[in-house]
Amino acid sequence: MKTIFSGIQPSGTPTIGNYIGAMKHFVELQSQYDSYFCIVDEHAITVPQERLKLRQQTRSLAALYLAVGLDPSKATIFIQSEVSAHAEAAWIVQCNSSIGELERMTQFKDKSAKQGKSQVSAGLLTYPPLMVADIILYQTDVVPVGEDQKQHLELTRDFAQRFNSRYGNGNQLLTIPEVYIPKEGGRIMSLQEPTKKMSKSDSSKKAFISMLDEPNVIRKKIRSAVTDSSGIIEYDETEKPAISNLLTIFSAFSGESVDALVERYRATGYAVFKNDLAEAIIQVLEPIQKRHDELMNSSELDDILDEGAEKARRSANKTLKKMQNAVGLGRKRR
Ligand code: AMP
Ligand code: TRP
Repeated sequence: MKTIFSGIQPSGTPTIGNYIGAMKHFVELQSQYDSYFCIVDEHAITVPQERLKLRQQTRSLAALYLAVGLDPSKATIFIQSEVSAHAEAAWIVQCNSSIGELERMTQFKDKSAKQGKSQVSAGLLTYPPLMVADIILYQTDVVPVGEDQKQHLELTRDFAQRFNSRYGNGNQLLTIPEVYIPKEGGRIMSLQEPTKKMSKSDSSKKAFISMLDEPNVIRKKIRSAVTDSSGIIEYDETEKPAISNLLTIFSAFSGESVDALVERYRATGYAVFKNDLAEAIIQVLEPIQKRHDELMNSSELDDILDEGAEKARRSANKTLKKMQNAVGLGRKRR
């Protein structure tokens, strides 16, 4: 069986963008692969976090993983900081990466340009090596992510190739992973600025729908989502980015194709379309929220995470040993 790995940061409550671009596919893929789904809390602290809030969000994301349908008998679900191999391998990755290639990462460029290099943490620059470590530790074949992570996956592939050729003596020490980006919904846009990615850290709460938003909040946010003045429902990313984005969201939640939706709503006007869209989202999210709330206060969740960390450790430590050995860390017993 091939291996998949993916992670989400507990830096807020996941949005429907995280759901459509990532989580939904985790559920579909878990039966076909040896699967690892991680809550990457060490990535979250590359920007300032409140400690209790981070703890709460970490637990909540774990509960959401289960609530959307990840099955601990199929997939290993765990918290990154509970498997120390991640931080250890990340150090080896950093020492085999150049500052230049890390400074070229768009995510780093964007965030450091906004705040200035003296304001952002060094961790923001070395965040991709930590992500590389996450992936290679499990000898991952496939990484399901949204579009925005493509560049980080290229970096991971470059790293694995470089490591193999530097240290492998002709052996493939690390698996070169493939990226898996969904054909539709790999980049869900903001409800307020449809040329910008939907993000859980957006300062405007109206820009995103969180997976734990209450039905009435969802209705309100969809009602106030920007559209355009034409009044016609069609899919055209350049001419009609807002409506196209809403169509993609509708399709992801209802399971109907964009074409079928366009056919049905073309002439109904935006109000009817938005009303039905909100209900489609609520229908999927409501049972997920209910299950999430049950899990939040259960020791079942703790047991699953304990077991997940244990399984992850076993597998990650094997690769970590291999990497330490390859670069010459530690010693060999006589
Ligand atoms: P993050 O919230 O940055 O940890 O992202 C977790 C996963 O969700 C990654 O695979 C992202 O690529 C994906 N993702 C985040 N935002 C979006 C979005 N607006 N549309 C589609 N996928 C997304
Ligand atoms: N960097 C990813 C994001 O912000 C999250 C992440 C961390 C990840 N490690 C990963 C995704 C490993 C896939 C595989 O979305």
